[in-house]
Amino acid sequence: MILVTGGAGFIGSNFILDWLAQCDEPVINLDKLTYAGNKSNFAALAEDSRHIFVHGDICDLALVNQLLATYKPRAIVHFAAESHVDRSIHSPGEFITTNINGTFTLLDAARTYWSALSDESKAAFRFLHVSTDEVYGSLSPDDAPFTETTPYSPNSPYSASKAAADHLVRAYYHTYGLPTLTTNCSNNYGPYHFPEKLIPLAIANARAGKTIPVYGDGQQVRDWLYVGDHCAAIRCVLQGGRLGETYNIGGWNEKANLEVVHTLCDILDQLAPKESGSYRDQITFVADRPGHDRRYAIDARKLAHELGWKPAETFETGIRKTVEWYMTHQDWVRNVQSGDYFKWLDKNYVQRADQQEVA
Ligand code: NAD
Ligand code: TYD
Repeated sequence: MILVTGGAGFIGSNFILDWLAQCDEPVINLDKLTYAGNKSNFAALAEDSRHIFVHGDICDLALVNQLLATYKPRAIVHFAAESHVDRSIHSPGEFITTNINGTFTLLDAARTYWSALSDESKAAFRFLHVSTDEVYGSLSPDDAPFTETTPYSPNSPYSASKAAADHLVRAYYHTYGLPTLTTNCSNNYGPYHFPEKLIPLAIANARAGKTIPVYGDGQQVRDWLYVGDHCAAIRCVLQGGRLGETYNIGGWNEKANLEVVHTLCDILDQLAPKESGSYRDQITFVADRPGHDRRYAIDARKLAHELGWKPAETFETGIRKTVEWYMTHQDWVRNVQSGDYFKWLDKNYVQRADQQEVA
């Protein structure tokens, strides 16, 4: 079996659902159920004995040791993290705890466990660390996309904490020989995406008749990848990735934020037309994010050449599927919009609107 951390979050839950749809190898899912973790993401697995959910913290060494000793996984796929840049600006401490200390705890527990395995199991074991393109910093319009050798230059507490975790993973390979793999992926979108990130927030707000907040001039560029393609890439790297290597994952889909929001509004105009006007009328420019990275872009050729992975979805097919998913899963959206969620919206957006008026 494999141990997945953060499997109640956006990408982790998609990964587990896809994994169990494709093979019978069981999954232990260790998740703390922060505001971003939702058991309803894997409601479809409620009766499935191949999925074992453990409510717990990756920083809890005794728990991680116990899970490794009990279930003897052949691999760890590590998604658990604090993942939202804006939250990392408001409360960086939690990012340091989970993303750095938590990754360290997992690595150290994995090292102890792996050292005691038979030679055959040792050779087969993998620790796959899921990371982000944000560790490379920000590109200018004419810069080439990030490759695996682009120097690290993280600019937010989130990306700095992920960069630190990546360095720890690298060190555990070089120092102890732990069979690690690291993936650095661009922005994902798709089902079960928590509605604090741009795409699900824009869809939820558009449907609720609220303003759709665009930071600054809306010309920041992200390289969007459908979550199912990210999960397929992780499976590829887990199966065939060279030990100690990092692999960039991206969809060759660079889009400015405003273009993304326009696309969402146009799809909604077709699928759920308003009585008058367009969803575009709800777009509101608000104060920019401090230290906002201007452009991310991923060169995913290493993964394509070495392991033959390429995305199945274009942005056009993936984004339409995503809007349709949100329209048919409004209960899921309502469920995850708890009191904490509304407090976050107040904290992040009321202040931005005030700043915008002053500006
Ligand atoms: P998410 O915020 O949706 O989910 C994170 C999950 O981790 C949640 O279920 C949460 O409960 C859990 N978690 C948080 N702290 C924990 C702890 N201490 N112990 C156990 N579980 C804990 O995040 P996501 O978007 O699914 O991202 C998953 C991973 O992929 C992260 O490592 C992130 O850095 C990386 N990544 C995300 C993107 C993206 O666009 N979302 C892109 C590239 C890489
Ligand atoms: P986000 O989804 O938070 O991902 P990341 O910061 O990890 O790239 O944001 C994507 C882009 O959208 C980013 O440039 C910030 C911008 N953005 C807005 O313009 N408005 C919003 O309300 C949010 C959440 C993000």
